[in-house]
Amino acid sequence: MSMTDLGNVTAGSSSPAIDLADNVWDSEADDTLVCEAVRQETHDVRTFVLRPAAPGRFRFKPGQFMTYAFEIGGETLYRCYTISSAPTRPDRLSLTVKRVPGGPVSNWLHDTFKPGMSLRAVGPMGDFSCAEHPAGRYLFLSGGSGITPLMSMARTFHDLGRSEDVVFIHNARSPADIIFREELETMARVDEGFRFVPIVQSVSPLSPSSGLRGFLTRSLLEVVAPDFREREVFVCGPAPYMAAVRSMLAEAGFDMARYHDESFNFETLTASERADAAEAETQLDAEASLAVKTYTVEFTKTRRTVEVPETMTVLEAAKRAGMRLPSSCSKGMCGTCKSKKVSGSVEMTHQGGIRQREIDAGMVLLCCSKPTSDLVIER
Ligand SMILES: Cc1cc2nc3c(=O)[nH]c(=O)nc-3n(C[C@H](O)[C@H](O)[C@H](O)COP(=O)(O)OP(=O)(O)OC[C@H]3O[C@@H](n4cnc5c(N)ncnc54)[C@H](O)[C@@H]3O)c2cc1C
Ligand code: FES
Repeated sequence: MSMTDLGNVTAGSSSPAIDLADNVWDSEADDTLVCEAVRQETHDVRTFVLRPAAPGRFRFKPGQFMTYAFEIGGETLYRCYTISSAPTRPDRLSLTVKRVPGGPVSNWLHDTFKPGMSLRAVGPMGDFSCAEHPAGRYLFLSGGSGITPLMSMARTFHDLGRSEDVVFIHNARSPADIIFREELETMARVDEGFRFVPIVQSVSPLSPSSGLRGFLTRSLLEVVAPDFREREVFVCGPAPYMAAVRSMLAEAGFDMARYHDESFNFETLTASERADAAEAETQLDAEASLAVKTYTVEFTKTRRTVEVPETMTVLEAAKRAGMRLPSSCSKGMCGTCKSKKVSGSVEMTHQGGIRQREIDAGMVLLCCSKPTSDLVIER
């Protein structure tokens, strides 16, 4: 079956009997995952358990993500989701998704995606993993749905029976919003060296909490993990949370070479950013008028046309012109910016976010493609 034949639904696809196959999921050759189960984690978070369409196992590092293609409303939308399960259980992988108000993909997953349906995916990808930075002691800091990569790492240590010295501090809006709470509390009970410290912004009579309240502060960190300067730190959460943690650690004299973070890229184009974009567009015009050759890039769906210098990626130029195009990693890795090139040519230097057969079919990653002619892009 070709990629284009695949919708989101595989009619009649049923789970095989327990089949612990030896084949390993190969991102170049395999692209279809079938939903095996859906689990409600909190009021607005669900976990989707997936298996490969052809019997096989997954190899990935805890903390890595996959990029999925969703066919929604006649459009293909690409989104990244961390693998929340552990590589120690290689027959399935799970993604844990928070419903984002107004978000097309997270709502589609919550409302429509059911066992038996299938998705296309590329990956695993990413280097946000404790496997990349082995250390004696770890500090995991997460906010909201940013818990997923750290959960995969915690599950991996737990499954391997390695009582690593981990302090896992998680920030949630309320006690009812703490994802994986029971599982993490069980790990903390049975694994010597593993500590789970939830902090909630607020409590209500319906969801009281005996735990910590407020935000992560330096004084709180000094109490919970006084040796934090000796730990390898992994941080994931909304951009403002990560910015606050980063500056708090830097100010505390933490060796930032031991700091690792991953962003889910929750930023929005604010009014001031739009003003910046307008200013940048002026600058772009100035740059375009210099000796550098420029090309015209026409976006068919948004009906915008942008002048792109040959030295700049299409994504960068479009963003500077105030367009909001889907993107995450900006380095050709995640596939979020994948788009159909209707005509023209580009020079693309990707890092695995696109397969050769997709390139052959005219797809490009806008974040790492510079124009070598005028272009028409379906976006
Ligand atoms: C490497 C990577 C891993 C990711 N892993 C996960 C994961 O494990 N679980 C998960 O739920 N999401 C994860 N995301 C975010 C995910 O890719 C989508 O952006 C998210 O599900 C929203 O998609 P949407 O189409 O519903 O809304 P969009 O149209 O993409 O976003 C709508 C708005 O919500 C903001 N937003 C996006 N995600 C969130 C969020 N989780 N919480 C609050 N605001 C948000 C966006 O910035 C935007 O302003 C990951 C992103 C990246 C880059
Ligand atoms: S934004 Fe990640 S590949 Fe382009």
